[in-house]
Amino acid sequence: MRRMTAEVRLDPADLILPLFVADDLGESGKPRIIASMPGVYQHSMDSLVEICREAVSLGIPCVDLFGVPRSEDKDASGSQAWDPDGVLNRAIARLRDEFGDKLLIMTDTCLDEFTDHGHCGVLVTDREGNVAVDNDATLELYAKMAVSQAEAGAHIVSPSGMMDGQVEVIRHALDQAGYTDVAIMAYSAKYASAFFGPFRDAVGSSLWGDRKTYQQDPANIRESLMEVELDVAEGADMVMVKPAMPYLDVLAKVAEVSPVPVAAYHVSGEYAMIQAAGRNGWIDLDRTMMEALLSIKRAGADQILTYFALDAARMLIDERPRP
Ligand code: PBG
Repeated sequence: MRRMTAEVRLDPADLILPLFVADDLGESGKPRIIASMPGVYQHSMDSLVEICREAVSLGIPCVDLFGVPRSEDKDASGSQAWDPDGVLNRAIARLRDEFGDKLLIMTDTCLDEFTDHGHCGVLVTDREGNVAVDNDATLELYAKMAVSQAEAGAHIVSPSGMMDGQVEVIRHALDQAGYTDVAIMAYSAKYASAFFGPFRDAVGSSLWGDRKTYQQDPANIRESLMEVELDVAEGADMVMVKPAMPYLDVLAKVAEVSPVPVAAYHVSGEYAMIQAAGRNGWIDLDRTMMEALLSIKRAGADQILTYFALDAARMLIDERPRP
């Protein structure tokens, strides 16, 4: 009866698996443990292909790729980001070659993994002598990065840097280069959140300072609704709310008004908390995981980006009633 009357259901097709590929692991290195995210690894090219094979076999339609360059390859503008030989672009090409259209390749279109200062854009010193991210100079680099990712074979680019006008500039650049069918998943309502903590370990981030000048203030919701409206007007094919669980109210409001699919990113800190409590025996890890993902869907998410994607898909398949 419960199964029949459930108002929402999770399906592996709802899930997007974020993955990290590290240049220093080479083609065939062993995956490297990320201490603050048990069960999540930095991958070599070969181990990336393996985990994607598993995702496909479980019915997960999409992966979201993040590149981890060697620290000596980082520079002030993050130039590895649009280099066809950069770690992320090589990973995209390898996966597209292996899987064709059987797996959607979504890519992080942001400079923070590639800059030596760890910010999502290039820096400028303003009249008062403060160092800040230069919004408009950064847009040109995002355009180059998105086109290089499309060239490498990405199906979806996802600008996550929260620069004003990023969706419009990327849409225009993709269209000019002939990639009219490459979609944009816009990180529209992305908050300056402490829940991103473990992610910074995952990508070996060199961030100094914070991202409060370009990410949303956790106190605000109207601002996020405006960001969604702007991104849709600029050509976003999908929008995202991030993090997920602390922002379910934002997600619900966005889902109410958005004319395009709405994704939610269950971020590194949310994952780490459930893992930590689960591994300590303080909560039931599997049940908590499924309840978290179900709640995100109930609040209005059409897709969920989650480091739990493989585990959750496995459980969903195991729980399917068999004749
Ligand atoms: C920026 C980016 C971040 C995350 C995804 N894309 C980090 C940030 O904005 O500081 C965080 C994801 C997570 O915490 O799981 N490229």
